[in-house]
Amino acid sequence: MTTASSSAPAAGVTASTIGTWVMETQQPVRFKIKNSPGIFSKGNRDVLEFGSQGPNSRRMVVIDRTICQYYLHDIVDYFKHQQVECHVVAIDATEDDKNLESLLVVLREMEKFGVLRRDEPLIAVGGGVLLDIAGMAAGMYRRGVPYIRVPTTLVGLVDASVGAKTGINFESRRNRLGSYYPPIAAYLDKGFLRTLAPLEITSGLGEILKMAVVKDRALFELLEEFGPELIETRFIGCRAADEVINRAVSGMKDELQENLWEKNLERMVDFGHSFSPIIEMRSINDAGQVALTHGQAVALDVLFSCVLSHQRGLMAKEELLRVGRTAQRLQLPTDHALFNEPLVILEALKDTMKHRNGDQNLPIPRAIGDSQFVNDLTFGEIKTAVAGLQQLNAQLGQAKAADQAASAGSPA
Ligand SMILES: NC(=O)c1ccc[n+]([C@@H]2O[C@H](COP(=O)([O-])OP(=O)(O)OC[C@H]3O[C@@H](n4cnc5c(N)ncnc54)[C@H](O)[C@@H]3O)[C@@H](O)[C@H]2O)c1
Repeated sequence: MTTASSSAPAAGVTASTIGTWVMETQQPVRFKIKNSPGIFSKGNRDVLEFGSQGPNSRRMVVIDRTICQYYLHDIVDYFKHQQVECHVVAIDATEDDKNLESLLVVLREMEKFGVLRRDEPLIAVGGGVLLDIAGMAAGMYRRGVPYIRVPTTLVGLVDASVGAKTGINFESRRNRLGSYYPPIAAYLDKGFLRTLAPLEITSGLGEILKMAVVKDRALFELLEEFGPELIETRFIGCRAADEVINRAVSGMKDELQENLWEKNLERMVDFGHSFSPIIEMRSINDAGQVALTHGQAVALDVLFSCVLSHQRGLMAKEELLRVGRTAQRLQLPTDHALFNEPLVILEALKDTMKHRNGDQNLPIPRAIGDSQFVNDLTFGEIKTAVAGLQQLNAQLGQAKAADQAASAGSPA
């Protein structure tokens, strides 16, 4: 009941409470992230676990157009076998396509298909770009219909499928528009990696390196030992592959779980994402720059942050060199023209600070696998770290040359 405030409050009613309500509620979130080998093989029902079952069941599948050549046939066959009507929507899903227009394409198709509010979860099949676009569309359509993530890239497996975030790029800014809209499930099938370009495998390894350096020393040691084999085998057949993926997913899940809505803006998983977002976008948009993939930009940020840490007397020189050598073994870049420009790095930091509500909140490793936050980084330190990164690269170059000379000289 609304109380008119013109007359004196009734006995027992204080003026300050008149006409004020507080809505307070909680929304528990629970979704599974499950390893599901052969996700579209006939005996696997995971992707149909949620939503309507039996005759007249329907699903809309949004898929990255690029991977249709490899998987469309299997997917169509799968739904036919399961007797589920399937409407496939293939969209271009490169970083350049991560925009409002692609979002609208998916939304228009959802409207055409007439997605039911609860029983027809949208199924998104693709890399991080596709998952982010489709998830955002699912969150907007009828103010939210359920969706399922099926990642097909390494970044998708270990990162984009784990959290709640969706998004698109806007005004040359990465993920400037988006939502927190968790899926109802994410199914991980590393079999998709067999068709992934080597560059995209190394990009995913950039995200895994981030997790390793910031919080998981054992994961780092696995990367150090098995990095080249993981690339060569595309994670299929390497005995460390499952443990690497599982540790990366678990670490990410543990970090995100306590802070899914990012109420706390001190986030360890922001490691590698302090300077890289602007640099990644600029490397793609500025002619004359070497374009960086997401994971490559993250890896450069990791290395730069390790240099900052070493300068502060935190990370030991030997550890810094280990991170650099491992990045090299993972075929990740250890240097880029934009990381030689202190003003660009400062600009990137300032933009990141807006995202962190004015604070730096920089995760900085004290040692491999152990980190802290820093809030007092100066421009002077950035300039010194730019020089430090050059020095590190010179040392890495010397070490590589020495290794090559040693292996050329060693008996076959
Ligand atoms: N929502 C999140 O929490 C989250 C987390 C990490 C990254 N992201 C986003 O993910 C994006 C990066 O994702 P990505 O690294 O997966 O890149 P991507 O989605 O751009 O895919 C990389 C390339 O691989 C192709 N591809 C995808 N699967 C393939 C397969 N199985 N075989 C052959 N080719 C295949 C794609 O067509 C594309 O050309 C960024 O936009 C980033 O913002 C989101």
